[in-house]
Amino acid sequence: MDEIDTWLERVYAAGGDRDTLDALYDTWSEQYDQHIWTSANPYIAIAAGFVGRHISDWNAEILDAGCGTGNMAQVLHQIGYTTIDGLDASPGMLEIAERKSVYRSLHHLVLAGHIDLADESFDAVVAAGVFTQGHAPPESLDGLSKLIRSGGPIIFSLSTVALEEQGFGDALADLVRQGEWELLDASPQYQSFPFSETESHLRHQVHTYRKL
Ligand SMILES: C[S@@+](CC[C@H](N)C(=O)[O-])C[C@H]1O[C@@H](n2cnc3c(N)ncnc32)[C@H](O)[C@@H]1O
Repeated sequence: MDEIDTWLERVYAAGGDRDTLDALYDTWSEQYDQHIWTSANPYIAIAAGFVGRHISDWNAEILDAGCGTGNMAQVLHQIGYTTIDGLDASPGMLEIAERKSVYRSLHHLVLAGHIDLADESFDAVVAAGVFTQGHAPPESLDGLSKLIRSGGPIIFSLSTVALEEQGFGDALADLVRQGEWELLDASPQYQSFPFSETESHLRHQVHTYRKL
């Protein structure tokens, strides 16, 4: 059985190639939950805390973008949120998510500047673990912005590599400068895989913006 470090190296080595990344996640999907929950990565806990702080309506329509096997929605469902849709590029990950019975609906879609869902159809968006090296591009922020109703929060984890080297810093600054989003919250940086031999250098933050 391959270890989490091996899988992390593979997904980062894909260098953003869509087909390679999707195939890797398809294959990883059956082991993914065991690997993630035993990795000590605090991202789901931090993001769930921010959801609780910024989404007071238990029936808010929430989109879980890059939902993977559904770990974020599983926690939000336990807390009491009732109406969560998910989207992901990997059919294998979506298959595991479906088994958890916590989503209203699941969509096989890729995050990009245009996402094939109705404009302003969600009260909030969460995106955990998908704005990282070689995963979703910074244009995804524009795509997601179109899906949120005015006033709605978007809560996401973001790697320092994506922020500083892959265009997310500029994309976020543009959204704020253009008066489309305002920053509500940002966690301190945290170590994503503190016990990993190869990935302990990775740092993420969870950010919360609001669509104006
Ligand atoms: C590290 S996993 C995180 C999954 C889940 N959110 C969680 O917290 O466990 C990253 C997920 O993002 C998906 N993904 C990567 N790039 C994507 C894109 N451009 N559009 C949609 N999903 C993408 C992968 O298929 C994978 O399921």
